[in-house]
Amino acid sequence: MIGFFDSGVGGLSILKNALEILPNHDYAYFGDEAYCPWGEKPKEFIIERSRLITKKLISLGAKAIVVACNTATVNAISTLRTEFPNTPFIGVEPGVKPATTLTESGKIAVLATKATSLGDRFLQLVNLFAQDKDIIMIPSSGLVELVEQGKCEGEEIEERLSEILLPYMKTGFDQLVLGCTHYPFLAGALRKILPSKVNIIDTGPPVAKQLARIIMQNNILEDNGKVNLWTSGDPGKFFELASKLLGIEIGKVERF
Ligand code: DGL
Repeated sequence: MIGFFDSGVGGLSILKNALEILPNHDYAYFGDEAYCPWGEKPKEFIIERSRLITKKLISLGAKAIVVACNTATVNAISTLRTEFPNTPFIGVEPGVKPATTLTESGKIAVLATKATSLGDRFLQLVNLFAQDKDIIMIPSSGLVELVEQGKCEGEEIEERLSEILLPYMKTGFDQLVLGCTHYPFLAGALRKILPSKVNIIDTGPPVAKQLARIIMQNNILEDNGKVNLWTSGDPGKFFELASKLLGIEIGKVERF
């Protein structure tokens, strides 16, 4: 079984990509709904929640864990790798590197949480790959909450996204990096409001491919193709929203 976790439903965007190429594994997905969002919380808090959830997923039998959250990857994955050396971890980081190869204007916009944009790991990523580019950080508070309410498309969402993004259009960015796993669920609405020259970068598909490589390297066997959910919040609500976002039949949901 492969474990996944996020502050809420965001990591389901990565699970969706994984299911497309790895449909025959069992998955345990943990959404930390009682503490969502993580993006405005201190690093220590994010590490503490990530550690607790990791222990739970390992106790359930996870053979590898996808930290399906940019905020937790940037702030906690190195601690998890040190504390749980026998478990392979796959992280999700904002796609700054691919954006640098695709940009023509040299201007790259990043939509990420506060805890991601202030994290050392993110700053290293920018220093390593994008020193000669303009990185435009766009504050995006409130978007995670909208996705958590199942609001991913329609007029209200497009208006909110326009308020956030349109003031930055004059900077001339031609790449928009989705630096939070909740945001791929907003990609349809984003496409409607952005000019066609702006390319949207979602790191979900490459993360799923990396998971496939780790599964091969560690010889993790296929099982029954089931998806089960755990949450610290309301299981009924979580089940409903996760079923809608994933669009597949979910085995069970439990509270932890
Ligand atoms: N989905 C998460 C991320 O990728 C966390 C969002 C939040 O809880 O603020 O950053």
